[in-house]
Amino acid sequence: MHYKTHIYEDNIQASRAVAEVILEKSFTKSNEGKMLNVALSGGSTPQQLFKQLADEYANLIPWKNINLYWVDERCVPPTDSESNFGMTYDTLLNKSFIPAENIHRIKGEDIPKNEVERYKELLWKNLPVKNGFPVFDIILLGMGDDGHTASIFPNNLELLHSEYSVAQAMHPLSGQKRITLTGKTICNAEKILFLICGISKAHVLKQIINNEPDSKQFPAANIGNCECIVDFYIDKKAGSLL
Ligand code: 6PG
Repeated sequence: MHYKTHIYEDNIQASRAVAEVILEKSFTKSNEGKMLNVALSGGSTPQQLFKQLADEYANLIPWKNINLYWVDERCVPPTDSESNFGMTYDTLLNKSFIPAENIHRIKGEDIPKNEVERYKELLWKNLPVKNGFPVFDIILLGMGDDGHTASIFPNNLELLHSEYSVAQAMHPLSGQKRITLTGKTICNAEKILFLICGISKAHVLKQIINNEPDSKQFPAANIGNCECIVDFYIDKKAGSLL
């Protein structure tokens, strides 16, 4: 895996660096007359990024040229406090400057196996295909304290190698049902960005970035491909052991 680590003072600075990448890529695609297809992760870390995109980039990014998808979703209604889409709506999408037709959420409220099929078909219909899997221009990932990413957890590494582009998953502690992009879809992206902040990520992140023995037990350590550099945008706390 080829990693590039970008360390910043705090989540605000790291998030702004990610926003600048989205800005740059959106104009590149816009100048080509194409859409930028981005898949977003949930959790708490990206909330800062989404707030900055809403407050500082509303008039800078050609939002009509961006399609938003999700990396994963909890199997709950969008109004549930656990919903990744709901969090993105509250921090970014409620500002309504992103066209509704550009927003392609995973419907956590629907029957998981049905939604897996619907979302899978949506990706096949809307996205280019490479290596037999849909291609996102940018995939934004987070990492849990346990090294999970998307909803691929350490007890379910099979999802890294699934022949399906989208799958059901389950949180190992809460049993919460999830829907997630699989490893081969994630690794098929043109650009893979991790946004990882906070001291609780430092121990696992060090093992991954240093490619330490046994680091492949962490799903986040298995993300990447020979064609693209995986960019880690982190704050000093998460990078404190590097
Ligand atoms: C989710 C996310 C997940 C997240 C990590 C990190 O549905 O929870 O997609 O992969 O990125 O759990 O979450 P935090 O940013 O809250 O630490």
